[in-house]
Amino acid sequence: MAGNTYGSSFRITTFGESHGKVNGVVMDGLPSGLMVNEKEMSDDLILRKPGKKYSTKRNEDDIPEIISGIFNGKTTGAPLTIIFHNMDVESSYYERNRFFPRPGHADLPAMIKYGYDNWDFRGGGRLSARETVSRVVAGSVARKLLLLKGIVVAGCVSSLGDMEFGMVSLEDCLSSRRRELRTPSDSYEKIAEGLLQKIISENDSVGGSVQIIVRGVPAGLGEPVFDKLKANIAYAMLGIPGSTYFEMGDGLKQSRSRGSEMMDKIVNRDGKYSWVKNHSGGILGGIATGDDIFFRIGFKPTSSIPRVHDTVDIRSGSAVEIKIVGRHDPSIVPRAVAVAESMACILILDQLMLSGEFRKPITDDENRIMNELWKTYQRVESK
Ligand SMILES: Cc1cc2nc3c(=O)[nH]c(=O)nc-3n(C[C@H](O)[C@H](O)[C@H](O)COP(=O)(O)O)c2cc1C
Repeated sequence: MAGNTYGSSFRITTFGESHGKVNGVVMDGLPSGLMVNEKEMSDDLILRKPGKKYSTKRNEDDIPEIISGIFNGKTTGAPLTIIFHNMDVESSYYERNRFFPRPGHADLPAMIKYGYDNWDFRGGGRLSARETVSRVVAGSVARKLLLLKGIVVAGCVSSLGDMEFGMVSLEDCLSSRRRELRTPSDSYEKIAEGLLQKIISENDSVGGSVQIIVRGVPAGLGEPVFDKLKANIAYAMLGIPGSTYFEMGDGLKQSRSRGSEMMDKIVNRDGKYSWVKNHSGGILGGIATGDDIFFRIGFKPTSSIPRVHDTVDIRSGSAVEIKIVGRHDPSIVPRAVAVAESMACILILDQLMLSGEFRKPITDDENRIMNELWKTYQRVESK
């Protein structure tokens, strides 16, 4: 199975299956001297965690365990490996239904590709979104280094079903960290709760979108031809399970507009050039403009809804009905915010390292600054 590694200068490799012993990640390329601890990582992990009111009943503790690459609380420069023990694993449903691929999931293509007998059918095996816990912990390590460079990454749910929350500010994205459904305001949270309660009562699910803003990326980051920054972002985001579309800046709106409507004045703000509207989302020609980078990722409605699903018995080819029971999220979108933020942190750090940043060990002063910024970052309230 290929494709388990992401990045070039900051490179992560994830491993593990949904119902296997552990999931984990190896991070390669980190500078030495970076203070990391499991408690800080949990600030991000909790936002992806299953077992909350509106999410799957799978109740994993998601406690990260650092098993290599650290000495006296700081990175050594060797690969940093973090694992999660899979505790809340219940495979009996999958044992009973192993010959009946679930619609909307990767079961059937995986069976065909890897062989019916080799496919780990338990909870989607390697192709389960359980894997994303590893991305989130890597993202949290990357996020710390980005803070040192003045780069802040924040996201929120920007639409749920046909409810649109509009274009959201960085502050409101940050404030969503204290709301279970990751909406950008308390009033939207109430609306979203109402919608999800209705969806649950109808044994259904709903899709939506996530908005991400990255502030502080230096102008000039990225390359112009095949390695465009926006292409890299799209690649990272469409690798998230359940993602359906990617929209850069005012993407969809731009494609429906006239040039006269999308003209964007360049201005000089205290010696810094920027664009009044930033329709492009902070990237032009594949290169960061220095303005906020923003984009949206669409997610499909959860496939595992508690209803009867039509599929086939792969032994006989005959039609069968299966019933998905127990564990499912009425919407994966709130939990996907943490995953999208993490992928953004990982890719921006990778791009910075490619441009020559973080070649020297992290100093004690730098660690102090990062630790302070980390605390501030957790505390932002909405305006
Ligand atoms: C954080 C997260 C949690 C997810 N949880 C579920 C779930 O409980 N049930 C489900 O049907 N899909 C869930 N998904 C989506 C599936 O993993 C995904 O649809 C499936 O692996 C097939 O991949 P694809 O949709 O990208 O083609 C989740 C995705 C994410 C990002």
